[in-house]
Amino acid sequence: HHRAMSALPKVYVTRRIPPDGLDILRKSGQVQFELWDSDDPVPRVELLNKVKGCDGILCVLTEKIDAQLLDVAGPNLKVLSTMSVGYDHLSLEELKKSLLIWACIFCRGIRVGYTPEVLTDAVAELTVALLLATSRRLIEATHEAKTGGWGTWRTMWLCGHELANSTVGILGLGRIGVAIAERLKPFKVKKFIYTDVEPRTELANMINAEYVSLDELAKQSDFLAICCALTPETHGICNWNLFSKMKKNAIFINTSRGGVVNQEDLYEALSTGLIAGAGLDVTTPEPLPTHHPLYTLKNCVILPHIASASYTTRNAMSALAANNLLAGLRGEAMPKELKL
Ligand code: DGY
Repeated sequence: HHRAMSALPKVYVTRRIPPDGLDILRKSGQVQFELWDSDDPVPRVELLNKVKGCDGILCVLTEKIDAQLLDVAGPNLKVLSTMSVGYDHLSLEELKKSLLIWACIFCRGIRVGYTPEVLTDAVAELTVALLLATSRRLIEATHEAKTGGWGTWRTMWLCGHELANSTVGILGLGRIGVAIAERLKPFKVKKFIYTDVEPRTELANMINAEYVSLDELAKQSDFLAICCALTPETHGICNWNLFSKMKKNAIFINTSRGGVVNQEDLYEALSTGLIAGAGLDVTTPEPLPTHHPLYTLKNCVILPHIASASYTTRNAMSALAANNLLAGLRGEAMPKELKL
């Protein structure tokens, strides 16, 4: 029995993941896994210690998967499965890299699984909620009601901006951008526009969106939703140059990654009235320290990275991450494998 156990591939799971994924790993009988059984991230030193000699790693977005970690893990590592659709925490170059070790060429060739699609609905829903909360000033309004600011009904008090007849811009049109547009359409949006590295005709046709330049996106959008991946190309793309071209009434919504935004520039844009408001589900860093200036702005709504946080979706992500891992270790195609 012991010999059979030790022959099973060794896996490290870097966090207490939702039950569906853990059940799949347990019932598979295919792996022996150790779990960082906590709601908080595993300390880096512990992580480096635990991945040594592993065949597979199942991680979440707080773990930096870089050269150091891969070197420590060693040549057994075949599969990395992240419980996220975002993969900016993985250094893909390192995962596929060839190394020269003891005069031998050694290709890491680590396969990567991620969790697209299963979270699209939850993220789109939250994005719409955040957009409306920001444009109709809901957080400010509940605060006023609770703290005595509600004197009487006033004609211009807490006025915001409405979706009806508006132009909605999407920066980075993928599954999530489409899902957001589909949900916003019944609010009588006049026009959808988007930009990306190149036109996404098939997706754009689903929502009747027009391809424009980044400049035009900034100039025309009444609402701008950021739905791109964080890459070297999109890092800091939402900066003064972009904000300064936007409309005064514009609402900026980010549910992708904090790194796409230059937060100093956003602070300037919000505090000087260059744009009307911002709703952020993602920031740099995370958590955003409570003393951060963005919290002082009434026109900035900040959420603690909860876009995919529904019971159904987090379990689906957990299950998919587990199934990706197991398929990868069997040498089969993963349900959702990242093309490296
Ligand atoms: C992701 O999956 O990348 C989100 O940021 C967390 O669900």
